[in-house]
Amino acid sequence: MMEAEDKQADAQTAPWRATVLTLFPEMFPGPLGISLAGQALERGVWALETVDIRDFARDKHRTVDDAPFGGGAGMVMRPDVVDDAIAATLRGEGGDGAGGGPARPLIFASPRGRPLGQQRVRELAAGPGVILLCGRYEGIDERVLEARAVEEVSLGDYVLSGGEPAALVLIDACARLLPGVMGSAQSQDEESFERGLLEYPHYTRPQEWQGRAVPEVLLSGHHEKIRAWRRAQAEQVTRARRPDLWARYRGAAQE
Ligand code: ADE
Repeated sequence: MMEAEDKQADAQTAPWRATVLTLFPEMFPGPLGISLAGQALERGVWALETVDIRDFARDKHRTVDDAPFGGGAGMVMRPDVVDDAIAATLRGEGGDGAGGGPARPLIFASPRGRPLGQQRVRELAAGPGVILLCGRYEGIDERVLEARAVEEVSLGDYVLSGGEPAALVLIDACARLLPGVMGSAQSQDEESFERGLLEYPHYTRPQEWQGRAVPEVLLSGHHEKIRAWRRAQAEQVTRARRPDLWARYRGAAQE
């Protein structure tokens, strides 16, 4: 295990690569340059680049958007400008037949997308990387999303001011799964979603704090009892907070 991790960390193999197409390249790496992801970025375990969509504007005002056909609020990003930014990014990728490295999925972060889950994050982390298209304003002209077979993903049922914070989240979720980024593979096995349950609660010193004691069983040294208690806690919190996950977990257990 360590050997494989060292190889990746030495960046002898091609690093996992994230390319972000954005109107605000200065938002990157932002928080991804700090802590675990930032250290791995520095070590060459993964790579990050930005493409400024405005560089592909066609007029002297560098216009990237226009009013929506059919009327309504806000502005829509133009398909020709966005498509040129995508084409420039794909040059050198395997995806458009232009040679180079393996094709990376092209993802557009949007509240209209399929919800992003840990399963898709695992798949993306196991691949060569991602190309992330970030929209601002009301959205992006639908035709370029269709023409480029863009995968639309959502972080949740709320609206962000743009795709950039979503791109930061998606990349962070992938980067921490890359070999050599997080210390212990065991801590990944036990975390939320890995077994279809939310995670059990954690406790550390002091043993008593503001009149609250750490659950007795965790002090027992009885590993089997601790495992059973944690499993019961994970089931209880999942049932209470996430009926959707609970139903799927129960369904899977019955199969
Ligand atoms: N962009 C704006 N809102 C978003 C959301 N909820 N998920 C992903 N990208 C977004």
